[in-house]
Amino acid sequence: MSDKKNSLPVIIDRMLITDLPEVLAIEQESFHSPWTVGMFKRELENAHSRCFCARLNFEDKSIVAAYIVFWLVADEVHLHNLAVDKEYRRQGLAFQLMEAMKEIARQNQVVAQTLEVRESNTEAIKLYRKCGFVVKGVRPLYYTDTKEDALIMWADVSSVKK
Ligand SMILES: CC(C)(COP(=O)(O)OP(=O)(O)OC[C@H]1O[C@@H](n2cnc3c(N)ncnc32)[C@H](O)[C@@H]1OP(=O)(O)O)[C@@H](O)C(=O)NCCC(=O)NCCS
Repeated sequence: MSDKKNSLPVIIDRMLITDLPEVLAIEQESFHSPWTVGMFKRELENAHSRCFCARLNFEDKSIVAAYIVFWLVADEVHLHNLAVDKEYRRQGLAFQLMEAMKEIARQNQVVAQTLEVRESNTEAIKLYRKCGFVVKGVRPLYYTDTKEDALIMWADVSSVKK
């Protein structure tokens, strides 16, 4: 089953307002404190923000399987949101979205990438380490819902293929 899914073509392109019902369904199954539709709409309108979906094409339809939201500000890219439909996890979709973010960073002369992650989110931390991120600091009690610390991770963009 998983091989079959892996063979499906993935398309990464801009998130559209019409994607929001699918995006919100993934968001709500993925997070303790999910973003609201209003928060996604503000990201779609924000000049600093870039919102992308990973789409899977089936015979008669295309579905949103994952998405990423990040900001390009000055010479940094800041990851704000990333989630994959539970049905399609562990098939490289998040890694592909992280690679797409890095490529867009390079195209915009950005030199560094940063993000915050819950210290308990071991899956995401493993993903970010695989993408070259290292922990550079901690924001105590950053997540007010669970009173959890955030790890601050950084990676440079220089390893991107030219
Ligand atoms: C974290 C998340 C985005 C990973 O998405 P994914 O598409 O399943 O990840 P990938 O298949 O691209 O995995 C890439 C790497 O991440 C790590 N990883 C991802 N999921 C993992 C898991 N469940 N257990 C261990 N490592 C994991 C592995 O290093 C993996 O590389 P490998 O397959 O070569 O071992 C996904 O689990 C998710 O949506 N979680 C809920 C939302 C969330 O936590 N988002 C991040 C907020 S900071």
